[in-house]
Amino acid sequence: MANPLDELSSIKVKLSIVIVAAVVVTLAVNEIGLALNFRAGFRAGVAAIIALGMVQLMARGMTSPLRKMETAATQLANGDLSVRVSSHSADEVGRLATAFNHMADELYELDRQRRDLVANVSHELRTPISALRATLENVVDGVVEPDPALLRTMLAQIERLQRLVSQLLDLSRLESGGSPLHKITFPALDLLEAVADEASLHSPDVEFDVVVEPKDLDVSGDPERLHQVIANLVENAARFTPEGAGVHLRAFEQDETVTFEVVDDGPGIPSESLNRVFERFYRTDEARSTDEGGSGLGLAIARWIVELHGGKIRAEQRDPNGCRMVVELPSPS
Ligand SMILES: Nc1ncnc2c1ncn2[C@@H]1O[C@H](COP(=O)(O)OP(=O)(O)OP(=O)(O)O)[C@@H](O)[C@H]1O
Ligand SMILES: [Mg+2]
Repeated sequence: MANPLDELSSIKVKLSIVIVAAVVVTLAVNEIGLALNFRAGFRAGVAAIIALGMVQLMARGMTSPLRKMETAATQLANGDLSVRVSSHSADEVGRLATAFNHMADELYELDRQRRDLVANVSHELRTPISALRATLENVVDGVVEPDPALLRTMLAQIERLQRLVSQLLDLSRLESGGSPLHKITFPALDLLEAVADEASLHSPDVEFDVVVEPKDLDVSGDPERLHQVIANLVENAARFTPEGAGVHLRAFEQDETVTFEVVDDGPGIPSESLNRVFERFYRTDEARSTDEGGSGLGLAIARWIVELHGGKIRAEQRDPNGCRMVVELPSPS
């Protein structure tokens, strides 16, 4: 049952009302007792009982959320993250209960993310480890010869493992702030050309073209980190763009913002995945089914780096097909 004082937003006001009401009742009982010629002791006793009853009734609900919160905090500390407290009052205790529930929600979400991360990491590590183990067992049992082709496959699995582990370390350093940026101002053209040169070594069948407007456009940031961001976008684009098609790298300045774009003619990203590709380990079904590429950490790392620079990153679908990845950084001041 709701308490009549629930609507009040301050404990001080509630207590004042309870005290004043108790004093008024005591005086009234005293007056009535006097008129009926009751003894002083009897009048005091009756007044005290009625005042106490009133305080009990009116103050009900003021302290019970605190007791509930004490129990809930103990449950929370013991690992039960589903526990919540209910409070109908609008005072400090009610607001504390709301803050408590909010904290419990956040803890629950963090715990869910932690469990997801462990599950994803284990899954991603298990696949190459199982493949390596199976191959090595065959070699040890004499079923297959350790010829160069087999050793290359094994090396590829080990490289995949190494890449995953270093990406995870990188992400954890970025998230914990343990990887400060070494910012300088440098030409955007240098960045895009370096990435394009590197990418054409890995994907000789893909054309990479670079356009920077104006040519001497400067960007401010950590050159290595920004190289890492653009290189990941270009690597993804080269992976998805069809043979013979190109990947376009652009940089231009507008409204105090330096924008980088990496555009390809691949299948693009389905609209429901446009935001999700920046989540750790997220890959679209298309990427999963090809078994190419990495574990889905590249864009999560890219987003951290861009946000540390005070910028934004987003994926857009091109019409009729293709993907445009856009990175916006504040212009050098
Ligand atoms: N240019 C693109 N065209 C189509 N899909 C893309 C493109 N870029 C990214 N994606 C989708 O986003 C997913 C996540 O990309 P991300 O770079 O984070 O991971 P990855 O390339 O799969 O692995 P990693 O970068 O860790 O080696 C990809 O698996 C793919 O599904
Ligand atoms: Mg990638």
